[in-house]
Amino acid sequence: MDEFTSRIEKIGYGGEGICYNEGKICFVKYCLPGEMVAIQKLSSKADYDIGQIKTILEKSEKRIVPKCPYYMHCGGCDFQHTSYQNELELKKQIMRNQLIKLGNNINFNIVASEKEYFYRNKIRLFPGKQKLGFKKEQTNSVIEIDNCEIANKLINISIPILSKFVFSQNIDKYLKYLEIRSKNNQLLINLFTNKKLNLSVNFLQDNLKTNFGLFQTINNKTEHIYGIQNIETNDNGLKFCISPNSFVQINDIVAQKLYNKVIETVKGNNIINCYSGAGFLSALLCLNGAQKVYGLELGINEHNDAEKLKKANNITNLINIQGDCALELPKVVKNADFIILDPPRKGCDNKVCNVINNSKAKQIIYISCNHATFARDVKRLNNYKLSNIELYDMFPRTCNFEIFSILQKI
Ligand SMILES: C[S@@+](CC[C@H](N)C(=O)[O-])C[C@H]1O[C@@H](n2cnc3c(N)ncnc32)[C@H](O)[C@@H]1O
Repeated sequence: MDEFTSRIEKIGYGGEGICYNEGKICFVKYCLPGEMVAIQKLSSKADYDIGQIKTILEKSEKRIVPKCPYYMHCGGCDFQHTSYQNELELKKQIMRNQLIKLGNNINFNIVASEKEYFYRNKIRLFPGKQKLGFKKEQTNSVIEIDNCEIANKLINISIPILSKFVFSQNIDKYLKYLEIRSKNNQLLINLFTNKKLNLSVNFLQDNLKTNFGLFQTINNKTEHIYGIQNIETNDNGLKFCISPNSFVQINDIVAQKLYNKVIETVKGNNIINCYSGAGFLSALLCLNGAQKVYGLELGINEHNDAEKLKKANNITNLINIQGDCALELPKVVKNADFIILDPPRKGCDNKVCNVINNSKAKQIIYISCNHATFARDVKRLNNYKLSNIELYDMFPRTCNFEIFSILQKI
């Protein structure tokens, strides 16, 4: 049967509603627990189906009208159809279900984001037919947009201007995508193209009424074309330079709260900060009582930004090492009282977990934006016991959140 009616029983790991059709599990996006829904089956696998809402027959009282006109089309957000308060509850449920699978019933809180909307400091847009837009989930079709409810204000001002810039100069034909980063009233625009273009910046100078930098990236090589080379900020007393390609947390206020939590947990120790990005947390740790910090980071852009940050702030108790944590951690692990892990979504290499299991570190702080790989790695870190968890809502209106956790040596 390609259509059926069912009640949504609970929330799935990716924020989808879970229901059953003749005993088989079906995942349906944009539904809320308790709702009775007429469902169109989209695809069928051996042990689950994917469906989409045809009609909502009984609505949850927690359903609201989404703010964004592209919601359910662009695929970027998952929870705009419910109140922010309920979204936080759903995120807690997702984490609780993951912990139950781990055999752990630890209590935890979620720290809300002050901004539900307009918080993202970076987005990636693709050329559509006439405008820039987001790629519809798991497809190559582009949903053209004029604004994005979760990107920050300056990014929103720049979206229509950049659409005009790209399409009036025929850049779209050679453009794979572009990235816009904005912090502290500055903008970095990076065009990822498949050939070198001669870009005229007059239109951008006339219309973007802010400090901006334009870059072009071809085959992973980024060239500065015009304007500022970095975003410069002065956060928490730290002079900080961000280049266009380095990783920086996308929600400034929540990132700051998360960093404060780490600082208060590890105070006064020797710390190895694995997957350290552009080095903001390493620098804050150094200036807040850490004896010595090692920052281990694979990306050369992030490592270079971290070195600039160290120099600009006269930090002397920080050693930034560029390389793969799986190779670099064994060389320095003997120095650690605390190890911080903040890996990308795929989690830690098994070698990293093995090295930590055999280390003398008293505590591990594991920060994760993916509860599935987090749960896998907590199992692998079997000489440590999960003792604390706090969620930080770094990504409002999407199903993602950041996990802060402490693991104690057994
Ligand atoms: C989630 S980010 C965390 C960055 C940083 N802790 C922060 O708060 O900004 C993960 C970082 O890990 C880096 N990375 C990815 N794979 C790595 C590896 N195998 N070894 C070291 N760093 C890696 C990425 O370049 C990225 O900067």
